[in-house]
Amino acid sequence: MIKRCLFPAAGYGTRFLPVTKAMPKEMLPILTKPLIQYGVEEAYEAGCIIMATITGRGKRAITDHFDISYELEHQIKGSDKEELLVEIRTLIKNCTFTYTRQNEMKGLGDAILKGRVLVGDSAPFAVILADDLCVNPDGDGVMTQMVKLYEKYRCSIVAIMEVPHDQVNKYGIIAGREVENGLYIIDDMVEKPDIDKAPSNLAIIGRYILTPDIFKIIENTPAGKNGELQITDALLTQAKKGMVLGYKFQGKRFDCGSLDGFVEATNYFYKNLQESKK
Ligand code: UTP
Repeated sequence: MIKRCLFPAAGYGTRFLPVTKAMPKEMLPILTKPLIQYGVEEAYEAGCIIMATITGRGKRAITDHFDISYELEHQIKGSDKEELLVEIRTLIKNCTFTYTRQNEMKGLGDAILKGRVLVGDSAPFAVILADDLCVNPDGDGVMTQMVKLYEKYRCSIVAIMEVPHDQVNKYGIIAGREVENGLYIIDDMVEKPDIDKAPSNLAIIGRYILTPDIFKIIENTPAGKNGELQITDALLTQAKKGMVLGYKFQGKRFDCGSLDGFVEATNYFYKNLQESKK
């Protein structure tokens, strides 16, 4: 039912300078696969076939990655290296990749609004922030879990997780009423609150399902924290008008936008690789 997934990827990735000077953060590899490919695979598993990326200056490597490289294909044809391209070839064959640019970094809300031309106004869509790498070794990927919930509740859903109290100022934080185990009807949401003012320690991570009425709401939302158009502010309006759910997902999330999370993810995937070879 949810066929389109938006990948806001226009940010500068300043925490990874100097590597992000000329290379998109979303192309940083965890082992041999760039972050954005993990996100696209998760969306594909959830049933999405239109992968819509919001890019910016210096992000062309993303576009090239999701296209056929004829010279390379020719070069490795018939060799055992072909094996390394199986996953990306599947994505290229079965998905349509679309792009638009966000010219100025005015915040995640603005990036999502720019995606309107790609995902349209008539159907719900997924949003994945590729620098939040999610895995669930025990079952469905996080976006698949969310799509299943959407089929039941038909409203916007954000993935949430508990974070230590001294880190609430790094996230959008929700408050709500638990209606099912790990599922909250949101009644408050604040972007990067002061530690002593946070309504809970339930933090929004980079997975969303949004209903298309969010676009009009974003248009009418003023700039918020740090002068940026915050998706959190728009979602609070949507929650007050109707219903927005917070879902404590099953699985593990690595904050690959930070050095610690990036190294942790690398170690996790490398350990799994070693174990799979045993
Ligand atoms: P971040 O703030 O984590 O990414 O935004 P950043 O700005 O690239 O990283 P740092 O802090 O400078 O190191 C979360 C996600 O939202 C996208 C980013 O690309 C990232 O995937 N984003 C953010 C946009 O696409 N546009 C924006 O204006 C802001």
